[in-house]
Amino acid sequence: MTDFWNQRYGGDDYAYGVEPNDFLRAEAHRIPIGPVLCLAEGEGRNAVFLAGLGHQVTAVDLSAEGLRKAEQLARRAGVTLELIHADLATFALGLDRWSGIVEIFMHLPAAVRRRVHAQIPLALRAGGCLVLESYRPEQLALGTGGPKDASLLPTLADLRDELRPLELVVARDVDREIHEGQFHAGPSATVQIVGFGESLKGAEG
Ligand SMILES: C[S@@+](CC[C@H](N)C(=O)[O-])C[C@H]1O[C@@H](n2cnc3c(N)ncnc32)[C@H](O)[C@@H]1O
Repeated sequence: MTDFWNQRYGGDDYAYGVEPNDFLRAEAHRIPIGPVLCLAEGEGRNAVFLAGLGHQVTAVDLSAEGLRKAEQLARRAGVTLELIHADLATFALGLDRWSGIVEIFMHLPAAVRRRVHAQIPLALRAGGCLVLESYRPEQLALGTGGPKDASLLPTLADLRDELRPLELVVARDVDREIHEGQFHAGPSATVQIVGFGESLKGAEG
C-alpha cells in the first residue's frame, strides 16, 4: 500500500491538485481557529489551505513522498505544517486536542477506519469540528476516482454508526461533479459529514 502511494506521488504533478477539496472549502468556517489534524492528507492541499486560514495544522500520512510534496506546497504558500509519517492503523489521535479534524478521501480497511473513528469524539476539543468527505460504494460503478475495492468505501449508515457520539449537522449522500487533479475527475458518489464534539453551550452549562 505504501509503495502504491509513494509511486502515485512520485512525479512533479499533484495527484489531486493543489486546491482544497471544495466541500472542505465550503465548511471550513465551522472549524474554530486552533490546532487541526488532517488525516491521510497525502500531498497537503487541504492542510495548506487550512494553515492559510490561521489554523496550526498537523498532517498525517503513511506516504513519505506525499509528505515531501506537502512540505513543498507549504513552503510555496508561505505556511508551516507539522508533518507526521505514520500508519493510521496505529496512530493515536490524542485526547481533547484538536479544534478540527479533517478527513478527505481517507479510504481505509473497515477495521482501521472504525479504530480511527472511535478516537475522533475523544480527540476533539469541546466545540471542535470534524469535516469528512469520502467516496461511497456507488462510486465503484462510476469509475471516476477512488479505490476499486468496495470494502474501503463506507456508507452513510456506517459513518453515522461509527461517529455516533458526535452531533452531526451535515450527514448526507451526495452525487456531484468532482475535478481534483488527474485522479478525481467526473460525476461522483460521495458521503459528506460535518460533526461537532461536545457543544460549547453544554460545556458552559
Ligand atoms: C485518496 S488519497 C487522499 C489524500 C488527501 N486527503 C487529499 O484529499 O488530497 C488517500 C491517502 O490516504 C493515505 N493512506 C492510505 N492508507 C493509510 C494509512 N493506513 N495510514 C495513513 N495514511 C494512509 C495515502 O497515503 C493517501 O495519501
